Amino acid sequence: MKNNLSLTKDFWNNRYIESKIGWDVGVITTPLKEYFDQLNDKTIKILIPGSGNSYEAEYLFENNFLNTYVLDYSEHALNNFRKRVPDFSESKLLNNDFFDVQGKFDLIIEQTFFCAIDKSRRSEYFKKMNDLLKPNGKLVGLLFNDSLNENHPPFGGNESEYKKYFETYFNTKVFQPSYNSIESRCGRELFMILNKK
Ligand SMILES: C[S@@+](CC[C@H](N)C(=O)[O-])C[C@H]1O[C@@H](n2cnc3c(N)ncnc32)[C@H](O)[C@@H]1O
Repeated sequence: MKNNLSLTKDFWNNRYIESKIGWDVGVITTPLKEYFDQLNDKTIKILIPGSGNSYEAEYLFENNFLNTYVLDYSEHALNNFRKRVPDFSESKLLNNDFFDVQGKFDLIIEQTFFCAIDKSRRSEYFKKMNDLLKPNGKLVGLLFNDSLNENHPPFGGNESEYKKYFETYFNTKVFQPSYNSIESRCGRELFMILNKK
């Protein structure tokens, strides 16, 4: 089993090359689809970090949210996305470390990315999210409400633990058990809408 020090770009890219991607559900998940469906302004600048095969970005593109950026360590995952969505702007596909990315976004989407980051970097994750958002920007998505693993991803946690990390950087609009999770994650996820402080 890989230990936390091995969560490198190559580690993640190899997971896609070897198709060891148990987290990949093959379609956009219901909570994010329903969230996107109620957004009115399609011009907002969106970032999806750790987006993997990026079914959410595909859905946004098909629904004319054309200011969407996709970021992932894995070139292989980005290539899968390019094949499925050939008209997606190349300049909005970022093969980079999340912690090195620059820019300012209105909305950042979280799904099974936080749980892939070493637990020692949780504060840094929320600080970086805060830095990447414009004033009034939002971090929206899902976090596992489940202890999961200590030595390898997915790393879990719970509501009170997560709050400790983000309350310096975000005001909570919504942070509650998700009512529309996909079946395999039912009762194990928190849906969040966090407003940048
Ligand atoms: C568990 S997967 C989730 C992928 C996708 N969100 C999904 O729901 O299918 C975590 C993703 O984060 C990416 N990743 C991990 N650490 C990263 C980092 N520091 N910068 C950018 N991407 C990273 C991995 O390459 C992988 O695609």
